[in-house]
Amino acid sequence: MGRDLHKKTFDDGTNTKLNIFQSYLFEWIPVFLKTNYFNEINIIDAFSGPGHDLLGNKGSPLIIMDAFKSFRDHITDTRVNVYFNEFNKNKFQRLRNEIEIFSKQNDDFMNKVSFNLTCLDFNDFFTSIKPNLNKNIPNFLFLDQNGIKFITKDIFKYLVNLEKTDFLFYISSSYLRRFGDTPEFSRYLNIPLDELKEKPFHEIHLQIVDFFQREIPPSNSNDYWLYPFSIKKGGNVFGLVFGSRNILAADKFLKVAWGISPKNGNANFDIEQDEQKSIENSNIPLFPSLHKRNKVQAFQDTVSKRILSGEIKNNINLYVETLRSGHLPKHSREVLINLKKEGRIFYEKNAPAVSYDAYRDKNIKLWKVL
Ligand SMILES: C[S@@+](CC[C@H](N)C(=O)[O-])C[C@H]1O[C@@H](n2cnc3c(N)ncnc32)[C@H](O)[C@@H]1O
Repeated sequence: MGRDLHKKTFDDGTNTKLNIFQSYLFEWIPVFLKTNYFNEINIIDAFSGPGHDLLGNKGSPLIIMDAFKSFRDHITDTRVNVYFNEFNKNKFQRLRNEIEIFSKQNDDFMNKVSFNLTCLDFNDFFTSIKPNLNKNIPNFLFLDQNGIKFITKDIFKYLVNLEKTDFLFYISSSYLRRFGDTPEFSRYLNIPLDELKEKPFHEIHLQIVDFFQREIPPSNSNDYWLYPFSIKKGGNVFGLVFGSRNILAADKFLKVAWGISPKNGNANFDIEQDEQKSIENSNIPLFPSLHKRNKVQAFQDTVSKRILSGEIKNNINLYVETLRSGHLPKHSREVLINLKKEGRIFYEKNAPAVSYDAYRDKNIKLWKVL
């Protein structure tokens, strides 16, 4: 299943995946290095690969090394533990060589980061790092599996129960729809095939993430943040799943995802079929009331109604609801500005901040529905 991506050059889908990983890493690292709350952090790359593709484009382990190199001046008292694991012996050996070369070229900062390399099957590796994951310190795991079989329900539940842990895992979602009822596949995730066929094929990754969402224990589900990012390659749909218990992490992940995909923030293709809607709208320019709404507009319509009905009462409420819907705070802020312009709500001066800072500082701002 799946061809070896290190025997060729990374394709667009792989580049999107690695761009999301890299961008989130650049958001995650400084949060912990620039504060004094934590004296230790863990980053885990459980399916590392050899370090690059056939042309020398960097894979996840070298992206991690480069990221810590960029932040090296901020690594003062924090102990940084990096875990690389690769099962294939040949790739593992190549990765070890890469790290040796990197270490020689960067000996000024190698003493600030502890690199741990293993050549284990994922399940043995995961068992071996559990004690390190359980230390109540920040963890970020990148689980870039081939296929579907390593991130089982049990692994997922284990991850969502960990404190201060963010993860990004990859899954070949459409394989589940194609082969989900074969014993080999159902052994790992056991999602009823009928359920997976209820929605169009291109939405398969969203359905897989819904399935994982339902696996989050009820005690956690209200304050857990889980997001999909679908990646189409040829006739297949793959995807990333991001998870965290922390609202700032959710905010940062959405910023990355919308940065990579400004139209929908959750796919490297037109998953909402917004282009088709826009073509249809352009055929009836004189009837704007009949125009189909794109993803952002549809969200803004809903938010607008909820504000006017009094269901969403203040900026903090609005911020949380915005992130829950997988949208950016700026999408909701635009709604407040427009409603004021239309004379349907009133607030003094500028639009109330819909932001993490306002949420953190409990800086509640109200508006009046007119
Ligand atoms: C999708 S690739 C990872 C690519 C890597 N993140 C990169 O950026 O280059 C998956 C990797 O998992 C490795 N792998 C396969 N079976 C494994 C297992 N049982 N345990 C751990 N790693 C395994 C493969 O050799 C392959 O290098």
